Amino acid sequence: MCGIVGAIARRNVAPILLQGLERLEYRGYDSAGVALVSDGRLSRIVSTGRVAELRERAAAATSELGIAHTRWATHGVPSERNAHPHMSSEHVAVVHNGIIENYEELRVNLTAAGYVFTSDTDTEVIAHLIHSHYARGNGLLAATQAALAELIGAYAIGVVAADQPDLLICARRGSPLLLGIGEGEHFIASDVSALLPVTQRVVYLEEGDVAEISAAGYRLFDTAGNPVIRPVQVSQLNDASVSLNGYRHYMQKEIHEQPEALANTLESVCNSQSLVPGIFGAEAAAAFAEVDGILILACGTSHHAGMVARYWLEEIAGIPCSVEIASEYRYRISVANPRTLIVTISQSGETADTLAALNYAKSLGHQHTLAICNVPESAIIRQSKLRLLTRAGPEIGVASTKAFTTQLAALFLLTLVLAKQCGKLDAAQEQRHLHDLRHLPSAVQAVLKLEPEIAKLAEQFVNKHHALFLGRGLHYPIALEGALKLKEISYIHAEAYPAGELKHGPLALVDKEMPVIAVAPNDALLEKLKSNLQEVKARGGELYVFADANTRFHSGDGFHVMQMPEHAGYLSPILHTIPLQLLAYYVALQKGTDVDKPRNLAKSVTVE
Ligand code: F6R
Repeated sequence: MCGIVGAIARRNVAPILLQGLERLEYRGYDSAGVALVSDGRLSRIVSTGRVAELRERAAAATSELGIAHTRWATHGVPSERNAHPHMSSEHVAVVHNGIIENYEELRVNLTAAGYVFTSDTDTEVIAHLIHSHYARGNGLLAATQAALAELIGAYAIGVVAADQPDLLICARRGSPLLLGIGEGEHFIASDVSALLPVTQRVVYLEEGDVAEISAAGYRLFDTAGNPVIRPVQVSQLNDASVSLNGYRHYMQKEIHEQPEALANTLESVCNSQSLVPGIFGAEAAAAFAEVDGILILACGTSHHAGMVARYWLEEIAGIPCSVEIASEYRYRISVANPRTLIVTISQSGETADTLAALNYAKSLGHQHTLAICNVPESAIIRQSKLRLLTRAGPEIGVASTKAFTTQLAALFLLTLVLAKQCGKLDAAQEQRHLHDLRHLPSAVQAVLKLEPEIAKLAEQFVNKHHALFLGRGLHYPIALEGALKLKEISYIHAEAYPAGELKHGPLALVDKEMPVIAVAPNDALLEKLKSNLQEVKARGGELYVFADANTRFHSGDGFHVMQMPEHAGYLSPILHTIPLQLLAYYVALQKGTDVDKPRNLAKSVTVE
């Protein structure tokens, strides 16, 4: 999704801005641009190609103040005229993440006041609005604050003016933004990874904050315009954690990082002899004691993690659980039970729909909120009472991999802690689960050894246009996740069904052109699944079965069996995810798609 970088220093900031944009490329974008202030003039350089192209165009540019942006189109097609920064009267330039909902009305008013619009974006109204207040004699800070008061919607913005070479203004509401602190220089960014080469010291802006920044210092103001102090934090990220380390793609690297990511996520638990609610925060024990149900809210892959958790929570902890897509829940009139624990799941912690769903739940009277999230400083973490951090490390590939399996591990911990609290887990069961969790990283490592076999298998998918994924019970969400991975990076249309549902419709699609991928753990539903697969075989379907040891599947005509290790019990969904990630990766690789940055998608979906 859109990315912002800004810098003010006593040296040329153009290379810093361009490097920052390159580091934000993983978020997804379709145009990029920079605005630089020098000699009382603003210059705007944009490109609809990659940031590398912008770098060539800006090669000669020098300036000690500038703002830069990667745009993921919402209002207006990807084009140079719609690329950010947007300028007003060659005097004020603005970069913006988010969506301004009342931009049409503002555009009419500004046009009537004589402003000429040169783009189709909502952002251009912000530039003209700030300019209109600036032209009336307000300082740049006051002009920005006055303009923001007229906006409805979400924004993170950076603002510069041609005649203010020592002033950078920024503000946020609904979209993330942070301030980077250097030695006699300052930066802004929508994502800390953009700033790691220049600083790890950051200040996260709160909702409604506005900052006035110079090379020498900065001042922060809250929504009401009162000066505020926000803590300076040292980011835990470093450069090594966001490099490829010899892998061809981030997605491949992140698939292989899963044993370590799981070990890190489970570290505190696996090193102890028993499970305690404290891993979710100091108030967890008291909160869990009041809870009689769970509502999980999430989007995409994180939603699939929630779907697996529902099976665990009801079966092991005996707690009623529902799982909702955040973008639906936030607009649904629902019946709130204040004793329900609201669990949000998010890799980024900034997904606009999940954040809005969390706040909607709170507005309905839900007090108990728990975030499972991979980014410690994110909005979802900050706005939840309880939290468990997945420690997957930065996930750069747009297709979520290690974030998903670590979310599952975190949700399994939640299940066990709640089960123990409800008296549903005796000491022997607890020790058995802890033993299985300790073994999980090496079990995942063993599954990763299937990589060469799966790379070969992927050749059979390259010319296919559709694929059907099947699973049952705990593994139905894994089939959904396998289909999502395949469609988003290889652009092959893929669907997932609970295998028992086949004969109620989707069986009509099965012929030899439709590969059918089955997740086949050695669990209580195995024989049922086998019958479902016979239905496929009888219709000439080509089957690819990921089968646990001792499931007695045999490769044969139209039947390809990939042998998984022994059944891993409740943790089996985590192991069965790995081959489906690898399958999607190798199909995409062989099709030559942009694996880490699939078309039309963004890593962090900060707009609705
Ligand atoms: C798919 C994928 C997305 C995200 C979804 C939610 O591979 O990554 O479906 O899972 O956009 O994002 P987070 O988890 O950051 O809230």
